[in-house]
Amino acid sequence: MTTQPDRIIIFDTTLRDGEQSPGASLNGEEKLTIARQLARLGVDVIEAGFPYASPGDFEAVQKIAELVGVEGGPTICGLARATRADIEAAGKALKPAAKARIHTFIATSDIHLEYKLKKTRPEVVAIAEEMVAYAKSFVDDVEFSPEDAGRSDPEFLYEVLTKAIAAGATTINIPDTVGYTTPGEFGAIIRGIKENVPNIDDAIISVHGHNDLGLAVANFLEAVKNGARQLECTINGIGERAGNAALEELVMALHVRRQYFNPFLGRPVDSQESLTNIDTRQIYKTSRLVSNLTGMFVQPNKAIVGANAFAHESGIHQDGVLKHKQTYEIMDAQSIGLTDNQIVLGKLSGRHAFASRLKELGFDLSDTELNNAFLKFKTVADKKKEVTDWDLESIVNAEIQQPPEIFRLELVQVSCGDRARPTATVTLRTPTGEELTDAAIGTGPVDAVYKAINRVVNVPNQLIEFSVQSVTAGIDALGEVTIRLRHGDRIFSGHSANTDIIVASAHAYVNALNRLYAFLEKQQEATPEPATATL
Ligand code: KIV
Ligand code: ZN
Repeated sequence: MTTQPDRIIIFDTTLRDGEQSPGASLNGEEKLTIARQLARLGVDVIEAGFPYASPGDFEAVQKIAELVGVEGGPTICGLARATRADIEAAGKALKPAAKARIHTFIATSDIHLEYKLKKTRPEVVAIAEEMVAYAKSFVDDVEFSPEDAGRSDPEFLYEVLTKAIAAGATTINIPDTVGYTTPGEFGAIIRGIKENVPNIDDAIISVHGHNDLGLAVANFLEAVKNGARQLECTINGIGERAGNAALEELVMALHVRRQYFNPFLGRPVDSQESLTNIDTRQIYKTSRLVSNLTGMFVQPNKAIVGANAFAHESGIHQDGVLKHKQTYEIMDAQSIGLTDNQIVLGKLSGRHAFASRLKELGFDLSDTELNNAFLKFKTVADKKKEVTDWDLESIVNAEIQQPPEIFRLELVQVSCGDRARPTATVTLRTPTGEELTDAAIGTGPVDAVYKAINRVVNVPNQLIEFSVQSVTAGIDALGEVTIRLRHGDRIFSGHSANTDIIVASAHAYVNALNRLYAFLEKQQEATPEPATATL
């Protein structure tokens, strides 16, 4: 019998399912940076990737297993389809982790069996059993998922789960793969499993769900009430299609409403003990890091981490909050780390003060990264009197996110105004070291800059998203620009921060083009064989 946890286990899949968001692809360094922050946030399990999918994914999982999966750190998990090759790759990649988990899955809904797998139910049961046992030969901790459980026949689900647990699965994960179920239905599925899978006490029940109908978080909370003890989620809810259940929403719902949830975990109503292991004060920082590195913008009205989540616009609300905070606030901005925004550095601050503040903020930079970030800080501090923690994070995130520098922006100059035709001149250093200058006219200054850059880089692409966000309030605030562009069926993102939003826009575009260029170069080098695996 597996000891059932007396709290909720948080399984983060930002680096696996989250990374499957169109255009969110991260390089190995970026994945490691996020994994380190997830460990600081206090997640129990990090699903670091899908090792069989590509050599890059394999290496990233291995690095995270080695550097983040240390003694006392989170469990590191790797995804594997129910095949020997996938499981073997996951087992190898996870080897360095102190606590390793293989997560293997096979679909159980009739529609997947008939059209995708072309297998019968008995065949699927046999594969699940055999592959769980195979995964067990690499690690003790094996998670099994019946994909599309939300649309599977419950009786068949009970049979597969019983066999998977008997073969050694320690966690059984119930995915609502297509985001189809409603909270009542999803809760009933979990209740049904608890009541009809005879060996269910030998495993922990987990849930995984997509947000196609905007119900993922609600479904999970209903699952908790019916016996689920592990929640699979992503930062900012990123993920395939409409995304996954958002970690910050689940954690804060369980935190703010713990009196409501306590009895479902067998606790006294008034217990103040936290229902998860998450350090909620790390939530905002983690959200910004993931948004910056993936290029996935957080909508302003997003619960918990959106720019407006704690803003009170109406006079009546402002008046109420000033009189008594709780009139219109159910949680404190500080509880997600939002108001630890001290002004710490300025123009006269030296390298030492800069480095030690970054250390306090949890950044662990190489000497080169630190030097580059310091130079950028000095430029910002020259233009901006007060440099806040958020500014520092923005500077460092932009530094960490640097894609391979193929083209380098040396100069950008614009002329615009209501009586002028927006015109831009840019100088770029090309991969051969040559400096090329070109100019263009556009519908606005950013359009002119992008047209001028295109004349130099000359790689066809379509700009599909452009957003500017200010890091802090004030006319001298740093502006963060995030862009996404499409080339064929691939999306590439770019990000940059500067007190001049035209300069930030130019850098963000060159960053995205460098990613695109690196991808094209890699494709040229690659053998004719296609990518090894996709989900
Ligand atoms: O959505 C899904 O079903 C998945 C599985 C691999 C768990 O991501
Ligand atoms: Zn999923």
